[in-house]
Amino acid sequence: MKRILICLLSLTISHILMAQDGASIKAVMDKVQLQFNLDAAGSPVYAVNYGDKAVIKPSHMGIKLLDDSSFDKHFILLNTERKAVDETWEPVWGEVSHIRDHYEQMTVHLQQQNAPHRLMDIVFRIFADGVGFRYEFPIQPNLQYFVVSDELTEFALTGDNKTFWIPGDYDSNEYPYTTSPISQVDASVLYQSEAEIAVRFVPDKYGIQTPLMMKTIDGLYINIHEAALQNYTSMQLHVDTKTFKLTANLVADAVGNKAYMRTPCHTPWRTIIVSDKATDILASKMILNLNDPSKITNTSWIKPMKFVGVWWEMQTGKSTWNYTDNLDVRDANGNLIPHGKHGATTANVERYIDFAAKNGIQGLLVEGWNTGWEEWFGHWSEKPFDFVTPYPDFDIKAVTSYAASKGVKMIMHNETSGGATNYERQMDTAFKFMKSYGYVAVKTGYVGKIMPRGEHHDGQWMVDHYVRVAQKAAQYGIMLDAHEPVRPTGLQRTYPNWMASEAGRGNEYNAFGNGNNPDHETIMPFTRFMGGPMDYTPGIFKIKGYSTVPGRQVRTTLAKQLALYVVLYSPVQMAADIPDNYESHMDAFQFIKDVAVDWDDTKIIEAEPGEYITTARKAKGTANWFVGAITNQNSRNANIPLNFLDKGKKYVATIYADATDADWKNNPEAYKISKFLVDDSTKLNVKLANGGGAAISIMPATAADKGLSLYK
Ligand code: NOJ
Ligand code: CA
Repeated sequence: MKRILICLLSLTISHILMAQDGASIKAVMDKVQLQFNLDAAGSPVYAVNYGDKAVIKPSHMGIKLLDDSSFDKHFILLNTERKAVDETWEPVWGEVSHIRDHYEQMTVHLQQQNAPHRLMDIVFRIFADGVGFRYEFPIQPNLQYFVVSDELTEFALTGDNKTFWIPGDYDSNEYPYTTSPISQVDASVLYQSEAEIAVRFVPDKYGIQTPLMMKTIDGLYINIHEAALQNYTSMQLHVDTKTFKLTANLVADAVGNKAYMRTPCHTPWRTIIVSDKATDILASKMILNLNDPSKITNTSWIKPMKFVGVWWEMQTGKSTWNYTDNLDVRDANGNLIPHGKHGATTANVERYIDFAAKNGIQGLLVEGWNTGWEEWFGHWSEKPFDFVTPYPDFDIKAVTSYAASKGVKMIMHNETSGGATNYERQMDTAFKFMKSYGYVAVKTGYVGKIMPRGEHHDGQWMVDHYVRVAQKAAQYGIMLDAHEPVRPTGLQRTYPNWMASEAGRGNEYNAFGNGNNPDHETIMPFTRFMGGPMDYTPGIFKIKGYSTVPGRQVRTTLAKQLALYVVLYSPVQMAADIPDNYESHMDAFQFIKDVAVDWDDTKIIEAEPGEYITTARKAKGTANWFVGAITNQNSRNANIPLNFLDKGKKYVATIYADATDADWKNNPEAYKISKFLVDDSTKLNVKLANGGGAAISIMPATAADKGLSLYK
């Protein structure tokens, strides 16, 4: 026993010596190598390598406390603990049915040499596809409640990386992406030009949002984000455009503080995903692995689904959320005077129910059903919504029983206008109301300045609020889709009823705003989607002519809209256009009917951020595969080897491709559908138009398919 102790002690002491004299301690997994040391001032420093290439050069770590400006230095290393983990878990829903969680963990236990001798641990997890680390604050006599005034984590880049970025806005992620060298970052330009984003606050001209995607000059793909963001504020990044060093920029609260903590506690994980292949970044499960397992034990009620919605017609101005023009004007009986353009009328909603039922679409979202939309945002008022009072022309009893009779599941809409305080007071009432009418899911919204006043969408108070909503929804057996929240960090593993968030620039910007560039969806999976599913609302078929604004159109082809159902992963996918626009293209709508929303397997076949992505997925519990291929403004040929199919088996591939003369600008709605027999030796070659895409369903062939020709 004594011997073992001495051994352990000497190991510990050697670590102390190594870490203290500037030499580093290391942890490795395949090509990923992590180094840690304390510098001369006793501040923690780390670095990351991939094979023989540096990914992150030596970079400082640490936290600043409001009451102690020296908390980032004078540390000594008490000891180091290591463990190895290799296990596999099954997500409730997802891109794959089994996820391997394989890492080396190294915990460094640090203590400040000077009084009050505070303790801090840093836990590193090294995976084959990157590194995660977080700060932990154990129970200790001289640190109990504390306020974080700053985080000092740095990511010192090796050069002027090509970067796909949006501004570091405390209130919005709904910006178009800029592709530029990191030295060219200037968040103030987009902040000024994107006036269509309702609430914006970008305090740092050189502040950018995560997930941040980069490519180095020597071909490494690097993604920086965070995992398991709870009980803390979100992390953005400050760019030093001269030295290429990024520093954590924590979102502040109403009084300028960053986070309020009580030991024992920890920060979220800081994540660095790295590979020499872009496809590996999209396939990474590191962020999910760094989140806690599901806190919901019975998950049988959580069901991925497709849905339609009384939605795009309001987004494009064909109808409205509000019922009347002026709340202050009433008729002789004291009733509101309808303006006749309200979208959520009983008759209109029933038409959507019919469309969903006829086409096997499981869900229906109805927005604008409740009173309050006349003054719904822009007033920083808690008042507009109570979440239980329908407009007079929306007969909730009739609508919900009609939906039930047709087997269509209702999705509730709770827009809060940023009034999180109001929503928290009314949440139980709202969820009871949903339950009593048989709603299975809720879409929340946070358009408007946040209440508690002075807080931001991405600060700690709101981070905790979104989690409370997910927990409350779970308590009532309701699935959640949050619009305008903080961007996701893998918490869908812990709260699998939190199906999706928007927290990014969705298709809706094509309806009311400047729209999305042709490369937008080739960047999104490398950025916003790294943290989790997005309610992007794909499936717009009427690409031009839906808007009265001259020149406004969706900057994709129709076939690319289909491909998005595969490329952009979400367990809830909207068929976002109006039924009329689908009814004139039912042959193309067949793909939306067929495509799955839950998967046993996913293969990222080819990808380059900002340029193209081709993804194949196997539908859960079936032998069917679906492929989506998209390109940016440039046309290209997608080469798709079908070697993932079962050997010796014949399948029918239905290819929904851009027509030969299609392109996003002049001829976006031109597509062609072809069918072939294929097998695992087939190599599909599909031409994608400028701004185009292709969607392919691949299902086992039956006797009826004998007449089809083999793909050549
Ligand atoms: C913004 C959301 O993203 C959109 O989907 C919704 O229709 C409006 N807010 C109204 O809540
Ligand atoms: Ca939005």
